[in-house]
Amino acid sequence: MTDKWQSAMDHAVAVARKAGQMVREAVGSVQSEAVMLKSSPIDLVTQTDQKVEKLIIHSLKEKFPTHCFIGEESVAAGEGCVLSDKPTWIIDPIDGTTNFVHSFPFVAVSIGFAVNKQVELGVVYSCLQDEMYTARRGKGAFCNGRPLRVSHQQDIQRSIIATEFGSNRDPAAVDKIFSSLRNVVSIPVHGVRGAGSAAVNMCMVASGRVEAYYEMGIHVWDIAAGSLIVSEAGGVLMDVEGGPLDLMSRRVLAANNRSVGDRLVDKIDAFTLRRDDDAS
Ligand code: IPD
Ligand code: CA
Repeated sequence: MTDKWQSAMDHAVAVARKAGQMVREAVGSVQSEAVMLKSSPIDLVTQTDQKVEKLIIHSLKEKFPTHCFIGEESVAAGEGCVLSDKPTWIIDPIDGTTNFVHSFPFVAVSIGFAVNKQVELGVVYSCLQDEMYTARRGKGAFCNGRPLRVSHQQDIQRSIIATEFGSNRDPAAVDKIFSSLRNVVSIPVHGVRGAGSAAVNMCMVASGRVEAYYEMGIHVWDIAAGSLIVSEAGGVLMDVEGGPLDLMSRRVLAANNRSVGDRLVDKIDAFTLRRDDDAS
């Protein structure tokens, strides 16, 4: 059987590299007046996010004209966020826009590709580190061509957990975020970290640098590519309440194994936001 999506993979890697170069060239020169706001005063966007997304979508559309697209900045500009069974590219041009604005060094281009709602390939290019994370369904996960494996740690007390505060400052959500954090810190775990990019956090799980990552408030473009990279590195993906991961649910838990994941489920004070596919 021919390798159906290899050319899609090759193209995604090439365009992610090109996009990453654009991001690298722009980092450090973002003027504060050029930073625009989206859903909240801390949900940032710059012209670079928009330009990079256009570059990626233009390039992929040229090669795959019948495919569908979900792009963070296209959705912000009013396009739909529909994950159907059709071949669909799911793109975050800059995951870690706040980091990008502040030159904090974790900034990634994230490109996922799903068919029948199943992620077939994921590319996360952590462009300031020049780390290209890739995965194909059933074919493993890699960083710069080197195979990735999650941590073998079974004991959550010997684990590092990644999480983020997100960009929602609704008091009820903030309470739940802090109550979860308090529960997790008090397990106690070795540490809690956050790279400021969901995609990078997921690659940290896949690389065995942290045991797990959870967040409520993320979007499908933040996690689509990373979810495959985690599962192909041997990790598990769950909802924060323990069920299967739903990419459109705005919640994610990625862990090195089920026992660490289940311990976190017990500690997370979960909340629900408007789903990505509810956007009208
Ligand atoms: C954000 C980052 C951040 C996470 C937010 C995301 P963006 O994505 O992944 O780590 O906490 O929930 O929205 O806005 O930089 O693409
Ligand atoms: Ca983004």
